[in-house]
Amino acid sequence: MTAQGRFITLEGGEGAGKSTQIRLLAEALRAEGRQVVTTREPGGSAGAEEIRSLLVNGSVGRWLPVSEAMLLSAARHDHVQRTILPALGAGQWVLCDRFADSTIAYQGYGHGLALDLLFRLRDIAVGDTRPDLTLILDVDPAIGLARAAARNGGEDRYEQMKLDFHRRLRDGYLAIAAAEPDRCAIINAGNGIDVIQADIRQAVRDRLGALR
Ligand code: TMP
Repeated sequence: MTAQGRFITLEGGEGAGKSTQIRLLAEALRAEGRQVVTTREPGGSAGAEEIRSLLVNGSVGRWLPVSEAMLLSAARHDHVQRTILPALGAGQWVLCDRFADSTIAYQGYGHGLALDLLFRLRDIAVGDTRPDLTLILDVDPAIGLARAAARNGGEDRYEQMKLDFHRRLRDGYLAIAAAEPDRCAIINAGNGIDVIQADIRQAVRDRLGALR
């Protein structure tokens, strides 16, 4: 019998430390003998990575908000069908850096698109695929943005947006967590890397029974 795969997503604003935390969580799960796939959005499949480059580069005003939401959804559909569902079907644990909640937080709470439009796009993109656990890395946006700027990568279109925007999206994530407490765990990402990772492992232990 194939062991059951699980789908974990990491969410949060800029500079919350998601990529480091995903790598550390993957190491811990692999050390228990689990098969783990790490992936990201936008991206995670060949086509979705091409769409990603259209989204993360260029000027802030490059895309109209609805066009952007549709590009994100097209990338997400490809990623779910070609990467996530096959891995879960093979009994693997899928750790995904951002997923559908990012669109609700960024495009909905951040850019002010109607949430019902975004829920409709989400349903088209993912069908009934839902994370088993969503870890929301919560940090004061002023701290997160400073960390992201220090990291100094080239993909900076989203990071240029204003502090107000980042405050709204933080509120969005907290609203998502409040609406779905069984799926979501809020992790204090203002802490150091090791404390954040310990909190993440605790959430995975409590909610999914792994890492005992
Ligand atoms: P990353 O910096 O976590 O790799 O994400 C790339 C950017 O894409 C980030 O600034 C957030 C943004 N984004 C959205 O606005 N909506 C989405 O649905 C996703 C997945 C990402």
